[in-house]
Amino acid sequence: MLKKIEAIIREDKVGDVRDALTEIGIVGLNLFEVRGHGRQGGIQLVGRAGTYQVNMLPKIQLNIILSDRNLEEAIEAILRSAHTGEPGDGMIFVYPVEEVIRIRTRERGQDAVMYPGDIDEKKGRSKAKAPA
Ligand SMILES: Nc1ncnc2c1ncn2[C@@H]1O[C@H](COP(=O)(O)OP(=O)(O)OP(=O)(O)O)[C@@H](O)[C@H]1O
Ligand SMILES: [Mg+2]
Repeated sequence: MLKKIEAIIREDKVGDVRDALTEIGIVGLNLFEVRGHGRQGGIQLVGRAGTYQVNMLPKIQLNIILSDRNLEEAIEAILRSAHTGEPGDGMIFVYPVEEVIRIRTRERGQDAVMYPGDIDEKKGRSKAKAPA
């Protein structure tokens, strides 16, 4: 089973989170810049012209497609590295993934989300046959 982690994190935590994921052997990922709000609905900022409300705050959305056997470890690494304890630390969403295909090799599913030196290799789980 493949899963997708969507982690909405603070912009200044991207480096730490990426390092924590690399450390456990999560290799493939992407990110984009998003704007949104959670339960506080934004924040009040104090400027020269007085206070004003910013409703949609910038965050980074990290996307990781991975085997579900690596899911909890990846979540734990994100929780560890993205946490400050202050409001706005973000959210983690997990989805089931239908299919993944590596275009170059036509590998599908779990094979398509395996990489040299990744979490599976670290654990001695390698695939039967590595395509050239
Ligand atoms: N239900 C949701 N659907 C989609 N995106 C969400 C949702 N809730 C939060 N987000 C995204 O997560 C970001 C971070 O949310 P935030 O950390 O402020 O969560 P929170 O629920 O308000 O918790 P906290 O009280 O710790 O701030 C938001 O800016 C938004 O981008
Ligand atoms: Mg919030």
